[in-house]
Amino acid sequence: MGQGKILIVDDSESNAAVMAMHAEAEWENPIITASSVQDAISILNQHNDIVTVISDYNMGEGTGGDLYEFIKKDKPTISFILIAGDDIDTFKSNPLFADLFKENPPAFIAKPFEREDFLGPIKHYSGNRLSDGSSRYRKIAIERFLMFNEVLVAAYIKLSDTKYVKILRNDDKFPEETVRKYIKKGVKFLFIETTEYQKFLKSASKKILSKLSNKKVGMKEKLEFQVHSVDSIHRGLRDLGMSEIAVTLADKSMDTTVNSIKKNKSISGLISKLLLRKNYIYQLSMLTNYLSVAIAEKTDYGSPSSYKKLTMSALLQDLSLENENLAKIVDLNGEPFQKLKPDQKKLVENHPHKTIELLEKVDDFAADSRTIIMEHHERPSGKGFPRGINHLKIAPLSCVFIIAHHFAHRLLTEPMTSETLQSINIELKEHFGKGNFRKAYQGFVKSFKG
Ligand SMILES: [Fe+2]
Repeated sequence: MGQGKILIVDDSESNAAVMAMHAEAEWENPIITASSVQDAISILNQHNDIVTVISDYNMGEGTGGDLYEFIKKDKPTISFILIAGDDIDTFKSNPLFADLFKENPPAFIAKPFEREDFLGPIKHYSGNRLSDGSSRYRKIAIERFLMFNEVLVAAYIKLSDTKYVKILRNDDKFPEETVRKYIKKGVKFLFIETTEYQKFLKSASKKILSKLSNKKVGMKEKLEFQVHSVDSIHRGLRDLGMSEIAVTLADKSMDTTVNSIKKNKSISGLISKLLLRKNYIYQLSMLTNYLSVAIAEKTDYGSPSSYKKLTMSALLQDLSLENENLAKIVDLNGEPFQKLKPDQKKLVENHPHKTIELLEKVDDFAADSRTIIMEHHERPSGKGFPRGINHLKIAPLSCVFIIAHHFAHRLLTEPMTSETLQSINIELKEHFGKGNFRKAYQGFVKSFKG
């Protein structure tokens, strides 16, 4: 008879992996993960030996609340713990969750959490349905061990409850080959001495963090952000001299914005379609986000609400364009535009309008973001589109966005040499330093001084 299982539900694979790692190190119980409410429900229907479910609240489709309702009704003996990054009071005051707050600690884990904040409620609510592992060793899934392949610790495999054999020493290069050999042999877990586990966790979390400026990305996996592409954007921006802080800030803004987008079914659908494309439009969205937040941080507009407006605009700016070649057109006097068929010309000229139309029914969409999207192709010279307004008329926050957008566009469409960078700098200095653009331009200069 096996032990009761623990089910962890999070639409971010990386978050789920971290939680699973914490839980499996502590208890012998098998850990299963699910990436959506639907997924979790079908697992619950297949396995009748699940003792505890730990679920994130905000997920792409369905919430932890939906899952909790299902469990209350159909599987009332399972203990349920909710995880959420939102304000705890909104959950406390919701009658649906009243039972979660009856005891101390509550069956609620607020994000971000430390290992102990996570383990405490599970232990409390699962009580004697959890079976402790050996106190001498901590368990880790062998595949996860590979994920952290810079961490050097001695590792064991378990032969019986009392017998463990050391297979990896801690004084070598990371023994990837050996680990893979054991995976082939069907070994599922490695064991690390409890005394070394803290050290292991520390290096592992560092590794996770760097992978997961993705935790941030992790939360967005549902929207199909690719870890590697964000990673390379991060690296690229640092190479350009953008500070770590600015990158983190932009990540954070992306994180909050995407979370609020997720709650909004209509935008969520639109945007996941957009981000699935992985092409110029996607890259432009990501880069414009990072650059505009970095610039805003160095101006008077450096506030979370401006960051959110900029991020929202960055993600949605070209929503109405399907064709990435059309999205690449930034100049109505240039040859690429002139060569287009009349209906394509219309699409390009009208895409800011069209995008705003698509967003008309979306609540919680800031008026400033509408303005930014409407103006994202305007130019200080007045030669932009659709309205041809100039540096005196374009809204100040749009100016931040336009500089970021212009910079991002050039970074994506030209070979990235020091000459290109220099020419971008000169161009911005000459044309983007006046009127309402002045402060934004100064912010740009400051944000790339490191
Ligand atoms: Fe555009």
